[in-house]
Amino acid sequence: MSVSVGHSVLRCVGCGVEADTNVLFPFACPNAGSGDGNEHILVRRLAPEWIRKALDEGGQETADRNSFIRFRHAMHSWHAATAWGFTDAEYIDEVTQLNQRIGRVDGTAFGETPFQPQDFLASRLGLPGRSLWVKDETNHVSGSHKGRHLFNILLWVHLQKKRGVLLNVPRLAIASCGNAALAAAVLANAADMPLDVFIPVNAEPNVVTRLSALGATIHVCPRRPNEVGDPCYLRFREATAAGALPFCCQGPDNALAVEGGLGLGWELVVQAKRARLHLDRVFVQVGGGALGSAVATAFLEAVESGYLSTMPKIIAVQTAGCAPLKRAYDRLMDAQHQHGWNNAETLHQATLHRSQWMWPWEEEPHSLAHGILDDETYDWHGLVTGIVASGGFPVVAAESAVVEAAQMGAEYTGIDVCATGTSGLAGLLSLDREQSSASGATVLLFTGHRR
Ligand SMILES: Cc1ncc(COP(=O)(O)O)c(C=O)c1O
Repeated sequence: MSVSVGHSVLRCVGCGVEADTNVLFPFACPNAGSGDGNEHILVRRLAPEWIRKALDEGGQETADRNSFIRFRHAMHSWHAATAWGFTDAEYIDEVTQLNQRIGRVDGTAFGETPFQPQDFLASRLGLPGRSLWVKDETNHVSGSHKGRHLFNILLWVHLQKKRGVLLNVPRLAIASCGNAALAAAVLANAADMPLDVFIPVNAEPNVVTRLSALGATIHVCPRRPNEVGDPCYLRFREATAAGALPFCCQGPDNALAVEGGLGLGWELVVQAKRARLHLDRVFVQVGGGALGSAVATAFLEAVESGYLSTMPKIIAVQTAGCAPLKRAYDRLMDAQHQHGWNNAETLHQATLHRSQWMWPWEEEPHSLAHGILDDETYDWHGLVTGIVASGGFPVVAAESAVVEAAQMGAEYTGIDVCATGTSGLAGLLSLDREQSSASGATVLLFTGHRR
């Protein structure tokens, strides 16, 4: 059984199994359905020299602005493609052509998103002189960062088709009522692949209209009597069990989703280095956790590769309406103190008996930041690893802070950002005096355009 493509491996953090490269779609750990209760998420593993090469090249002024080209030497799909016989130039050409088609559908193609100082916002927050920077994803493909996760999956399917081993593309499936669904519909349309979107009964009408216009097949999912969990996610799981491809933004269902988000983190790494910034902390809003997991992993890998000497604190923000990560983290830290575990042992314990730490939020959540109301932090493992390694912490923002951040974030930066997109700022507003001190730059991610 062949387990690595070129130098890259997809390995489960829980059981250590490596994905078989003869499998067309090595998206999830083969032991995920074993019922052993452990964490099963495939993570791309690569020698630090490859990460270093990608960052050194990607940090050049002349580097391509598309992260899938810029940092390709650190991406599983590039290692796979070159092992399959594609040349580097052919790989770049495939990414470029796919991206051009996305640009024609959406009006925007993948490129570098802005990273700028926000002095006025800092002064209005009472942080004058403090270095406050925003990474702005609001004008990226389909108006959020979500397309980054999905492009990596699309590219994989596209390359399998190109090399002639995938004759009929299965239907793609996603459960979402917002940014992820919109990004999925743009990408599927551009690649001419069929997409099923599982949405809740109360999905916003303008989103549904746009999804239909992009050719997605919409399935409205009412809650069924005596059913526990998100009905859209349950219907999505049924579709993927029946053969649809998980075209989603959750790592346990599709490892490539999280890897796709690394480009955002690495862009931040090289942009900060170019601006000669010392990053002290990065606030990241957490729903399903793929965004936070990707950003934390990007920094971790940058440090492991020697490109950065230290990592900024990863500060994970949830709302008071739904905070399963904070609950899981607190339980884990209590156990650490009780048993005297070191950090490595604590992270190992986090992968065991997952439901001991992380389980779905019981109450039906509500918040203006509705994009981060996932009842479970599916990608909590990468996030906890990043939080522990960086000395960061999770924060729960009160709903009043979410509302204030939405208003301040848009007004004092001029960025047309939604409340979910400013919920990292709500976390900053919620810190107490002791937590507020910073020794370098503070970074916020503005992740979604206001609709
Ligand atoms: C604008 C925006 N920001 C952040 C997030 C959170 O991302 P994740 O679910 O990967 O934690 C979402 C998720 O829907 C989102 O729409």
